Amino acid sequence: MPIDTDVTRRAERVLAELTLEEKVSLLDGSTFWHTQAVERVDVPALMLTDGPHGLRKQVGSSDHLGLAESVPATCVPPAVALGATWDCDLVRRIGQALGDECRAQEVAVLLGPGVNMKRSPLCGRNFEYFSEDPYLAGELGTAMVEGVQSRGVGTSLKHFAANNQETDRMTVSAEVDERTLREIYLAPFERVVTGAQPWTVMCSYNRLNGTYTSEHPWLLTRVLRDEWGFEGLVVSDWGAVNDRAHAVAAGLDLEMPSSGGHGTARILSAVRSGELAEADVDRAALRVLELVEHARATAGPEDGPRATFDADAHHALAREAAARGAVLLKNEGDVLPLAQDGGAVAVIGELARTPRYQGAGSSLVNPTRLDDPLSALTAALAGRRPVTFAAGYARDCDEPSATLVAQAVAAARDADVAVVFLGLPAGDESEGYDRDHMELPPAQVALLNAVAAVAERVVVVLTHGGVVSVSSWQHHADAILDALLLGQAVGSAVADLLVGAVSPSGKLAETIPLRYEDNPTIGAHPGENGSVRYGEGLLIGYRWYDTRLMDVAYPFGHGLSYTSFEYTGIRAEVRDADRALVDVTVTVENTGARAGREIVQIYVADPAARVFRPAQELKGFTDVTLEPGERRPVTVFLDARSFAYWDTALGRWAVEGGAFEIRVASSSRDVRGTVVIDLPGDAGRRPLRLESTSDDWLDHPVAGERFRTLVAGSKLGDALFDPDHGAMMRAIPVVRLTLFPGSPITQGQLTRLLEEFAQA
Ligand code: BGC
Repeated sequence: MPIDTDVTRRAERVLAELTLEEKVSLLDGSTFWHTQAVERVDVPALMLTDGPHGLRKQVGSSDHLGLAESVPATCVPPAVALGATWDCDLVRRIGQALGDECRAQEVAVLLGPGVNMKRSPLCGRNFEYFSEDPYLAGELGTAMVEGVQSRGVGTSLKHFAANNQETDRMTVSAEVDERTLREIYLAPFERVVTGAQPWTVMCSYNRLNGTYTSEHPWLLTRVLRDEWGFEGLVVSDWGAVNDRAHAVAAGLDLEMPSSGGHGTARILSAVRSGELAEADVDRAALRVLELVEHARATAGPEDGPRATFDADAHHALAREAAARGAVLLKNEGDVLPLAQDGGAVAVIGELARTPRYQGAGSSLVNPTRLDDPLSALTAALAGRRPVTFAAGYARDCDEPSATLVAQAVAAARDADVAVVFLGLPAGDESEGYDRDHMELPPAQVALLNAVAAVAERVVVVLTHGGVVSVSSWQHHADAILDALLLGQAVGSAVADLLVGAVSPSGKLAETIPLRYEDNPTIGAHPGENGSVRYGEGLLIGYRWYDTRLMDVAYPFGHGLSYTSFEYTGIRAEVRDADRALVDVTVTVENTGARAGREIVQIYVADPAARVFRPAQELKGFTDVTLEPGERRPVTVFLDARSFAYWDTALGRWAVEGGAFEIRVASSSRDVRGTVVIDLPGDAGRRPLRLESTSDDWLDHPVAGERFRTLVAGSKLGDALFDPDHGAMMRAIPVVRLTLFPGSPITQGQLTRLLEEFAQA
């Protein structure tokens, strides 16, 4: 929240009038979803509620697991599908719609978006997150925050940080090295905070390197506020507080939900005993008051008309987004789109009639309506092609039913094409627990085997939040439409895609590996004895598969269309070398017969880096919609961060000077052109130390010569420059060489040289 000075001034005025007890009361919720009011000074209670892919406002009994009913609201596609749209503009419009619904329901803060990384394919909450790539998640998260907040409603960027699994989520310690944290797990949060200033950030449940994130001063204050300039309020995830006094000191302003007086009692006694400074309480209370004043300033006059929203328009937006989020994985013989006329289309699979369209837990939305694929497809083909239906399996049953399979086989045999809806049962994935495998239920695979044996052509429509393995069955499918979880307009959107009213344009925001065992967290998820070690470091998702040159089922960024695109005129222009500003331009041409949208991806590689770098990393993307035969140039802007790594020795982002490859691609494995550019970088030279090796010293432009002179002609010198074994000697820290018998160099000489260079 970019705090304007009026808001701060008003908040400060109120703060000055409060007693210590009143200030402390503000740091706790009053109910499950409300902050505390202080009527004496006209401070109202605010409502904060879920999110992220629709509003879940509970008016009756409250819970944070989505069990109790909530008011009807538009269920837009969850982040798993929004991620696959790669469409910031669309996500911004969705944010605006959600903001309007919040206003109509007098909700001050929507609890989302979630920008955690999809580290393990098994995380039960992956459906609520955008991607395995921090740049993509950060861009889409920024757009969502901008959209919601443009309506005068706050957001809560969550779950900060390293909450990448549901197993033991309230206690597990994520053990992550700083470079990995900065480049992967904190990066999307940084992008959203610096780009859109969410009104609030929600800390996660877990511990990070041993300390609960709810009481982690480095995370909540040093990084979030001091480095990134966050101006809003930090709220706990619901029930994430461990020690309330430590949390206040670390920078956690508001505890939610109400702790029933527990938190306030702990804070008061800590202040009275001197354990906690009253200034820390003041700081946190001021942030709560700023949030209240900010919400008041943007809510409009209290006696004004109540805001409303257009449910039809929001449903149409949900449909547009759903159609953009589905990914066409394969389409052999152009079986899709379905021909406008012809024989029967056999729709098979209970999920076509009773779709799954969102995940379970705190994000569960009570939709304003629901389009099912069977009705929508029947309507879309009405009068042109007969549509038959067979359930094929019972929705939540793993065991095949001979009767249901026989009915499906009969329907497929009599049809021109079988459209088979497969997917994960609702119980397989949810907030609160992880999956233990990546497979479809055996009943569904058995059904597909049986149907494929008789069907002329087979199209599979896949429903899931977490990634599903396709290896054991995809050979049966001529086409696979990966429909993820598409929100309440799932049916109409899937029909739009199947009949070709819309050409698919989604691209995978998460790799589909060949098998679970290939994934980088194998053996390191969900951890053991209360901790999980992120041993794969930077190699999350495609960074792992690409660096290790592994085959995958479908790569990150992959997605087909009903048309085709050609890339020409690829070039990269260094606009400002010192600031590493680079413009990448490519002309995209629609070379097929239908209109379509192409997502252009820019990957950067630093093949000769001194520090380890993943094989390539996404650093930019854009999209272009083209009529058949149309061509248009697009430009993507890169900046220093596109080339930087987190340098642990320097304690900052650094660009290593030298050559970088810029790959212009249609997917991470479909690179259409590479341009090499040269940048001066700002990493500088590693400072020489006594512990530096002879190689480091010899490499130094000034020290190199002096060191060479010192050892020249000695036995040590001969050993260092020996063509066969010198490399071994040159890898020894020079300070150790001073101790070798007969060494021509002393520690004093080296120290003096270092002092000389430090002054130079
Ligand atoms: C979830 C949050 C959610 C909160 C309130 C928690 O269990 O982790 O994402 O916003 O509950 O429902």
